[in-house]
Amino acid sequence: MGRTQWADVDRYINATPVGEDEALAGAIRASAQAGLPPIHVSPAQGKLLHLIARLQGAREVLEIGTLGGYSTIWLARALPDGGRLVTLEAEPRHAEVARANLERAQVSSRVDLRVGRAQELLPALAAEGRPPFDLVFIDADKAGIPEYFAWALRLSRRGAAIIVDNVVRQGSVLDAASTDPSVQGVRRFNELLAAERRVSATTVQTVGTKGYDGFTLAVVVGD
Ligand code: SAH
Ligand code: DHB
Ligand code: MG
Repeated sequence: MGRTQWADVDRYINATPVGEDEALAGAIRASAQAGLPPIHVSPAQGKLLHLIARLQGAREVLEIGTLGGYSTIWLARALPDGGRLVTLEAEPRHAEVARANLERAQVSSRVDLRVGRAQELLPALAAEGRPPFDLVFIDADKAGIPEYFAWALRLSRRGAAIIVDNVVRQGSVLDAASTDPSVQGVRRFNELLAAERRVSATTVQTVGTKGYDGFTLAVVVGD
């Protein structure tokens, strides 16, 4: 038992209920060929994002951290006609690979990919007076999670889902004395959650092709 078995079972799950198709598998291949780090969500996690967006009836989705657009494709495919997904990416090279992947997956027309640091793009988004988001997926730098979560709350409607990736980090989240800014970002986020009356949240630990990690699901229950 251990990492190899988690990955084997994840591949089995991917081959059975998940149904990753050629556009998604191709996005991962193209991202690898372009030298992007293999840190996209797994197929099973991508499908979970897709299904949560469907359960939400999400029309307006925000993603922070695009990479090659793999999670973006799963989320964009959950949108109804007229739905929109805004995704933010700091690295122009990642965004370029994502654009081609989104094009091949035929979701470009519903995706607004913005290149820049989320810290700068989020205030600009707030100033646009656009409709509030129904779902926010936070998956950029982990030190930024507390700040991104505050923006997600500000930019989303009551009933919205906020999902935060990579919040367990092989259990290193327990290390209060850690000097890793990612660990401190997650710990600060958990402190905010504990004090935040506008959301109801849980965290689920995960194993699979990406090793041992976890995600937080928060629902905006008040304002
Ligand atoms: N959501 C993607 C994976 C994202 S990986 C998927 O599952 O397919 C994290 C991405 O966040 C990287 O591409 C990285 O360049 C980007 N990123 C890091 N810091 C950022 C910031 N401050 N603003 C916006 N994007 C950032
Ligand atoms: C990292 C980022 C991610 O979004 C992820 O899913 C895994 C790892 C990272 O920055 O190391
Ligand atoms: Mg992630």
